[in-house]
Amino acid sequence: MNRKLSFWRISIAGAVILTAIGVYSLSAQNRAGNPQSAVNSAFEQFKGLKEGKNADYIPALAKVDPNLFGIALVTTDGKSYFAGDIKSEVSIQSISKVFTMAQVIQEQGLESIEKRIGVDATGARFNSIIAVESVKTIVGAGSPEMNPLVNPGAITATSMVTGGTRNEVWNKIIGTYSEYAGRPLTVLEDVYRSEADTNQRNQAIGALMFAYGYIKSDWQQAVDLYTRQCAVGVNAKDLAMMAATLAAGGRNPITGKRVLDESKVPGVLAVMATAGLYDDSGKWLYHTGLPAKSGVGGGIIAVSPGKFGIAVVSPPLDEAGNSVRAQRAMAEISNALGGNPYAVMAKK
Ligand code: DON
Repeated sequence: MNRKLSFWRISIAGAVILTAIGVYSLSAQNRAGNPQSAVNSAFEQFKGLKEGKNADYIPALAKVDPNLFGIALVTTDGKSYFAGDIKSEVSIQSISKVFTMAQVIQEQGLESIEKRIGVDATGARFNSIIAVESVKTIVGAGSPEMNPLVNPGAITATSMVTGGTRNEVWNKIIGTYSEYAGRPLTVLEDVYRSEADTNQRNQAIGALMFAYGYIKSDWQQAVDLYTRQCAVGVNAKDLAMMAATLAAGGRNPITGKRVLDESKVPGVLAVMATAGLYDDSGKWLYHTGLPAKSGVGGGIIAVSPGKFGIAVVSPPLDEAGNSVRAQRAMAEISNALGGNPYAVMAKK
């Protein structure tokens, strides 16, 4: 009788433990979310959102279809999840700044960017000249108190890419971007011509950065190559691959090619976290915790370190120059998948 009783007690206790484990792992799964459902559901939720306006200070960007909307997520183990239009290309624009910075860091070390440009937020618009002037007034000309994700720092970073000729420098830049994307990328020539015809402000910034000793070589070449790098054509999938390469510690998760040393990735991500969405970077980080970078072509990339890279392409922008739909969709997806690196569960 006693034996029978203890048999039942053990069986019931076993069943309770198994159920508890089941319930726990189910809720853990829910916390982590299913990537394809998260991507689909954000696509459905935001496909009708009409806020924002295409950039038009570069005439070619005003002509891009504002309805274009594509989402791509690539995990660090190479699984991909898509929704919407992931094939149409837009110009990479300011997202390029991340990969030129990374190229310089890869060749010349983390300190090269920190010493010449700086890794501090300016809190100003991406093409602010006052930001350069206030650094000069407060700390002096040539002080490394900016960052490579705003135009003065980005044009300087482009000037730091080494090469004997303009073509050599350019081939390095486009070659690096292509390795991050895992396919050969090309320039959207109409966007390049359109921006080259209207980039007088960036020329002024280039000349100023030369005058203040940040740029130490041909500033006109730097501005021209910067303009060209902004016109590289990418789709949502390319951008997600580029982000996933950073998420995976500098190795492209599909091709297996190492593009950036593991030890250099945190520095790149730190600048993205500080300045990736310009004067709205703090707001973005507050809601998502993700290092990210936007471009006026309508793309945004974000990196969940060790987990995934995500990208959305949708041209209409908000006042700060960041894609409205991309911000909303990416925040939703990342939060559903537990992508925020600061969101740690307390130990029980
Ligand atoms: O320098 C420019 O004006 C553009 N080629 C890039 C600007 C940009 O993408 C700013 N992004 N949010």
